[in-house]
Amino acid sequence: MKAPEPWTITIDGPAGSGKSTVAKALAAELGVTYLNTGAMYRAVALACQRGNIAYDQQDQVTDLLQTTTLAQVGDRIILNGTDETETLDAYGTEASKIAVFPYVRTFLVNIQQQIGQQQNLVSDGRDQGTVVFPNAALKFYIIATAEVRAERRLQKLKLDGRTADFEQLRLEFIERDCRDMTRSAGPLVRPRGATVICTDHYSETELLNLLLKEVRACCLG
Ligand code: DC
Repeated sequence: MKAPEPWTITIDGPAGSGKSTVAKALAAELGVTYLNTGAMYRAVALACQRGNIAYDQQDQVTDLLQTTTLAQVGDRIILNGTDETETLDAYGTEASKIAVFPYVRTFLVNIQQQIGQQQNLVSDGRDQGTVVFPNAALKFYIIATAEVRAERRLQKLKLDGRTADFEQLRLEFIERDCRDMTRSAGPLVRPRGATVICTDHYSETELLNLLLKEVRACCLG
C-alpha cells in the first residue's frame, strides 16, 4: 500500500555527517523535492552580513527579517528576489549563530512547512524530524565522528586546491555541534523513531542504498 501524500522523509544530523549529500541523492532517486534547510539559515546569515548586522544581535536580526523574503524555488535559494545559491557555502558557522534565535527559527519553519504541505519531500537539517515535520513518514539521524568529518572536509578542500588544519577543522565541528545541540529552540537531537546511522565507514553510495532500502520498506517512492 502506498503512503498517503504529501509525505516527508527527514534527515537530521550534525554538520559534515554526509546528510545533505545523501538527502539530495535520495530526493533525485525518488523524483521528489530536496528541501535544503541549512541553506535557508545560511541565507539569513548572508542577509545579516549584507545589512551590517552582527550575528549575535537578536533584535536587529529579528527586525531585518520583517523586510526579508526567502524562498526555495526548485533547488535554488532566492533571497530578496535574487538567486544566492552559489554564495551560501561559506556561511555555515554564521548560520549556526543566527539559528539560535527563536524568531529566525519560526520564520524559516513556517516557510519549510508550507513547502511540505504542497509536495513530497526529502528534507535535511537539525529540527526536521522533531519540530518541522514531527509526523514525517520516515526519519533518519545521520552522524559521524568529528575526526572523520574533519578528514573528509580536509580532503574536499585539498581537491579544491585549498589548505586547512585538521585539528582546527575538528574543533570547528565540535564547537558547531555544541551550539546546534544546546540552543533552547529547535536543538539538534535524535528524533523519536528515527533510524540512526553512523556514516564513518560508509561510502556515499553505500549510505544511499541503505536509506533506499528503508524507504522502499515503507512504501515511499
Ligand atoms: O546543514 P548546514 O550545515 O547547511 O546548516 C548550517 C547551520 O544552520 C547549522 O550549523 C545550524 C543551522 N541549521 C539549523 O539550525 N536548523 C536547520 N534545520 C538547518 C540548519
